[in-house]
Amino acid sequence: MDFKNVVAHCKEYAFVYQSSEIYDGLAAAYDYGPYGIELKNNIKEYWWKSMVQMHQNIVGLDAAIFMHPKVWKASGHVDAFNDPLIDNKDSKKRYRADQLIEGYCEKIENKIRKDVEKARKRFGDDFDEAQFRSTNGRVVERQERIDSILKRMNDSLSKEDLADVKSLIEELEIACPDSGSKNWTDVRQFNLMFSTQLGNVAGEEGKLYLRPETAQGIFTNFLNVQKSSRQKVPFGIAQIGKAFRNEIVARQFIFRMKEFEQMEMQFFVRPGTEMEWYAHWKETRLQWHKALGVPADKLRFHDHEKLAHYANAAADIEFEFPFGFRELEGIHSRTDFDLTQHQELSGKKLQYFDPELNENYVPYVVETSIGCDRMFLAQVSLALQEESVPDSKGGESTRTVMKFHPAIAPVKCAILPLLKNDEGLVKASQDLYSALKFDVNAQYDEKDAIGRRYRRQDAIGTPYCLTVDHQTLEDNTVTIRERDSLEQQRIGIDEAPAIIRDNCSVKKLFV
Ligand code: GAP
Repeated sequence: MDFKNVVAHCKEYAFVYQSSEIYDGLAAAYDYGPYGIELKNNIKEYWWKSMVQMHQNIVGLDAAIFMHPKVWKASGHVDAFNDPLIDNKDSKKRYRADQLIEGYCEKIENKIRKDVEKARKRFGDDFDEAQFRSTNGRVVERQERIDSILKRMNDSLSKEDLADVKSLIEELEIACPDSGSKNWTDVRQFNLMFSTQLGNVAGEEGKLYLRPETAQGIFTNFLNVQKSSRQKVPFGIAQIGKAFRNEIVARQFIFRMKEFEQMEMQFFVRPGTEMEWYAHWKETRLQWHKALGVPADKLRFHDHEKLAHYANAAADIEFEFPFGFRELEGIHSRTDFDLTQHQELSGKKLQYFDPELNENYVPYVVETSIGCDRMFLAQVSLALQEESVPDSKGGESTRTVMKFHPAIAPVKCAILPLLKNDEGLVKASQDLYSALKFDVNAQYDEKDAIGRRYRRQDAIGTPYCLTVDHQTLEDNTVTIRERDSLEQQRIGIDEAPAIIRDNCSVKKLFV
């Protein structure tokens, strides 16, 4: 589905709104509507269940957003959590220099994709994309150009050679996307943390940061949690919470926001075993996505060549969003960097006594970190489809449907009396709603013709509709309509709650 349609659908059907829209909005801030919050909660429930409640050696935490300012000095965020920014002098627009260059490369990649698609049409079933990409002269030349541009950019960024990043932008003749002007300022680093001030302490001393990742609340509580919950290494601490980043170039809807939610788990392991655990968590996390029904070809790993200052290995799980493959989740082997840094700056030991080895050490950490909002966007863009279905007159019509896995669908079941002014039908429907409401998020809807009500439920991804008609009053049966197959069957009204509950349970994702 086109990305514009995804954004429009999210607004029209109560999933996501622009923040402060009546004041023309605030860039990169979004609000979740009535169905959006249900979907988001269901995604979080799936993550929490699989990461915390289904692991005896992983426990949860909910740390404060504000932390002692030294935390961010220790973690490296004060000194190194920067984006390289560049301003266009004519349009006064500000951009991330690396994204301008990546955007240039993406245009070359689009040309490659066009060549690939043309060749696919020409060769039909015999087409071998990998072979074509490695042998077609024009494609190879374009790919080499992309690789050499990105290599130069990454080398310059890691050497902090910002003058060369500017030269690269000029050599590639990259123009301001807004004005077309090539009149650029120098590139400079911009720290992404939001800061605020304590009321009772003046100056730098009272400067507080809004956390840019939830992970540090886990590191600083490492010994508290280990001791008070009697965990033994290897064990994990998981947390879901808000994080804040002053993203200058906020694009692509909820993909990149200033305020967003992370679901992070830090797994503490014996030094020397971190690569095994890194491989384990990479695979486990990929399976977590696949269990939701995400097709394998929509997911891929991107192993990092350029590593963050704290990591000895890192990979992204990328998802094919409507604007291409992008990072959805990160798996990082963070070594003992964070705990060691906190030990040094706090002066407090953060060591674990390993009874089997009879020695103390600072554990190594393997982290899994996924943005809840990005996961939401991935699921929404995957679920939203337009398809042709048979209509009541024997013809075809188009329906808009969101094919969420039932376990994460915002509404699990709609209860629809065939007629709204028939007291018997309304009463039976309300009774059925009451029987369901404790177990699942159900919705009672009596307005409009039944066909329109089905379409409305399709558009928000409700997996089941239960229709109450005159036969219900005679034999206690209802029609159950399944969203994807459109099949309708009669079932006993007493069976309905168990069917809906079982088919929509998170358990379905694990068996
Ligand atoms: N603790 C490690 C960490 O924060 P990260 O790669 O910077 O690593 C982890 O962020 C995940 O958080 C990303 O994979 C992405 O899903 C999400 N994320 C990061 N920045 C975001 C933003 N500005 N808006 C929405 N999600 C974001």
